[in-house]
Amino acid sequence: MDESITATCIAPINIAVIKYWGKRDDKLILPVNDSISGTLSTDQLCAKTTISASPTYTETKFWLNGIEGDYKTNLRMKNVIKTMKKLAKKKSPKNKALKWKLHICSVNNFPTAAGLASSAAGYSCLVYTLAQLYGIENEDLTPIARLGSGSACRSLDGGFVHWMKGISPTGEDSVAVQLCDENYWPELRVLIIVVNEAKKSVSSTNGMSLTSTTSELFNYRIMKCVPERIRAMKKAIAERNFKDFGELTMKDSNQFHACCLDAFPPCVYMSDVSHRMAAIVHGYNKNAGETCVAYTFDAGPNVCVYLLEKEVRRFVTMLAAFFPCDAYDEGKFVRGIPIKYLSK
Ligand code: PMV
Repeated sequence: MDESITATCIAPINIAVIKYWGKRDDKLILPVNDSISGTLSTDQLCAKTTISASPTYTETKFWLNGIEGDYKTNLRMKNVIKTMKKLAKKKSPKNKALKWKLHICSVNNFPTAAGLASSAAGYSCLVYTLAQLYGIENEDLTPIARLGSGSACRSLDGGFVHWMKGISPTGEDSVAVQLCDENYWPELRVLIIVVNEAKKSVSSTNGMSLTSTTSELFNYRIMKCVPERIRAMKKAIAERNFKDFGELTMKDSNQFHACCLDAFPPCVYMSDVSHRMAAIVHGYNKNAGETCVAYTFDAGPNVCVYLLEKEVRRFVTMLAAFFPCDAYDEGKFVRGIPIKYLSK
C-alpha cells in the first residue's frame, strides 16, 4: 500500500512600501527595521509548491522551476524544514510522516531572483505547504517563513502586512501581522513592469551585509527615518490616503537605493530604464496635479507601481507612448493586480 502523502499550495509575492534592508542576526534572519508590504493576488505572480513525503524516499530533494537544487548545501531550506517538523512533532508526536524524506517541487510563474520577491513567494509557499502536509493549524507560521527569506513572512497574509523587527535576540517577537485584509482598499492596484528578467548581480543577502557595514546613510535611515515612516504609513493606509501612501512609498524606495549606492563598493540595482520610469511617474503626477501613481523598486531594476483602478488605463497608455512594446497588449509585462490573497 502506498502510504505517501502530498500537498500543493500557491503563494503570492508581496511588494514592500517600507523596505526591509539589513539584518541584526544572519542565521535567524532578524531585521534591523520594521517593514510594511502589500500582498498581491495569487492569480498573477505566485509560487506553486507540491511536497510529497514517502517512506520509500531515501533522501530529501527539491526542484525549482524544474531544475534540481542541492538540498544538502541549502542551509535555509534545511532550517525551515527542521523547524516545521519540530512544530509538527509538538502538535502530534505520533505523526509517522515526520520521519519520511520529502520531494519538493516549486515553480514560479515569473522571473526568479530578478528583484521581484520570488524568495518571498517561494518560502511562504514552502512553509504553508508543509503546514498542510503535517496538519498544522492555527499556528503563527511567520517566524518560520522568516527563516527562509525575511520578506517571506509578509506573504502569508493578504492585504497590508507589518513585519515587526522585535527586540528579542532569539526572534520570537519578530513576526508579521496583518494590518488590513485584501478587501480593505478595493480600488488599489499594482502594476509590475518587468524591465529586465535577468538574475540580479548582488543577492539581497550580500547587498544587505555590504550596505549595513559600509554605508553611513544606512544608520541614519534606520535610526532617524524608518520608525517615523512606519507610523506615517500605517496612518496613510488606515485613512486610505493615496497621496501620503504614494509619497512615502516612493521616498522609502529612493532612500533604500540611496543607501545601496552609499555602500562601498556600491550596490547598483536600478538601471537607466528604472530611473526613466521613476521620472515618468513624477511627470505624470505633476501633470495630474496630485500624487496618483507611486513607484517602488526592490533589489533589481523592475518597477512596481501602486495606483488606483481609475488611473490604470491612462497610465498604461501613457507608458506605452514612452516604451512602445507589443507585450502591453498581451498583458505580459504589465499586470494590473488587485491586492488579494486567495490560497488560504
Ligand atoms: O527577503 P529578502 O532577503 O529577499 O529581502 C528582500 C528585500 C527587499 O525586497 C529589497 C525589501 C523588502 O522589504 O521586501
